[in-house]
Amino acid sequence: MSCTKVRLVIFVQTLINPVGLKKRRILDLVEENYVFASVLHHFGIDFYDYQEQNLAEVCKKKGLKPELIIAGLEDVIEDDQEHLQYLIGLPVDLVIAYLKHKHFSFVKHTLPYLAKLINCYPSQGGCTVINDIKWLFPLFVEDFIQHMHEEEDTVFQHILQIEKALKGEVATSSLFFNLKKYSIKAIAHEHQAHDDVMIGIRKLTNDYAHEKDSPVLLKVIFSELQSFEKNLIIHSRIENEVLFPKALLMEKELYKVISKYSVLN
Ligand SMILES: [Fe+2]
Ligand SMILES: [Fe+2]
Repeated sequence: MSCTKVRLVIFVQTLINPVGLKKRRILDLVEENYVFASVLHHFGIDFYDYQEQNLAEVCKKKGLKPELIIAGLEDVIEDDQEHLQYLIGLPVDLVIAYLKHKHFSFVKHTLPYLAKLINCYPSQGGCTVINDIKWLFPLFVEDFIQHMHEEEDTVFQHILQIEKALKGEVATSSLFFNLKKYSIKAIAHEHQAHDDVMIGIRKLTNDYAHEKDSPVLLKVIFSELQSFEKNLIIHSRIENEVLFPKALLMEKELYKVISKYSVLN
């Protein structure tokens, strides 16, 4: 079981005892486990607005049951190694569908949540690391979104076309131009060379290091950035270790078909 899952299981056990939990301050719960901040956010509760209130008060105000919040944990369980093994057994179109779903989830949920946390941190107050993150994070988001667009519009499309050609769903001749333009080996090399996308933020935060008495919002931000980086590493590994090897084999197979076709003509 991964560290994240162990952490979440312990956390779920704490939640299962709702009597004590309901009386606990939101700030204390988040201090104990920063993942709780994202669970609350999922339910439309920004922890920093309710720090001094207990869970029962906040749930009542929002018309929520604590059980719902437990169920919400399912949504924040991060990817791990098991996903990689599972995806290796799937056909390439499903792997691509999964990767696109993750892109969507990064754009719609993770990045806006991170941006919101970072933006609501007071700019003045001497925390220069946060001020630098406020400046760097939007640039990172821009680059990362461009990376995902390039993958979806070019790389994934090309691989799906190869798959269709192998199934006989599109004419092989329609791929001649793109087969010359894109080599899966080159795409994979290029991807591997640039997959440490959070290096700037990691260096800036000194590996997300913080003091024991740092503000809880700062701890939540660093924890979420670190968790996002972990998810990105898994995502990149799925592309490097599952998608590209599959695509490379398919490309080779298609070249064989093409050469057979050329001999016959
Ligand atoms: Fe991707
Ligand atoms: Fe990628």
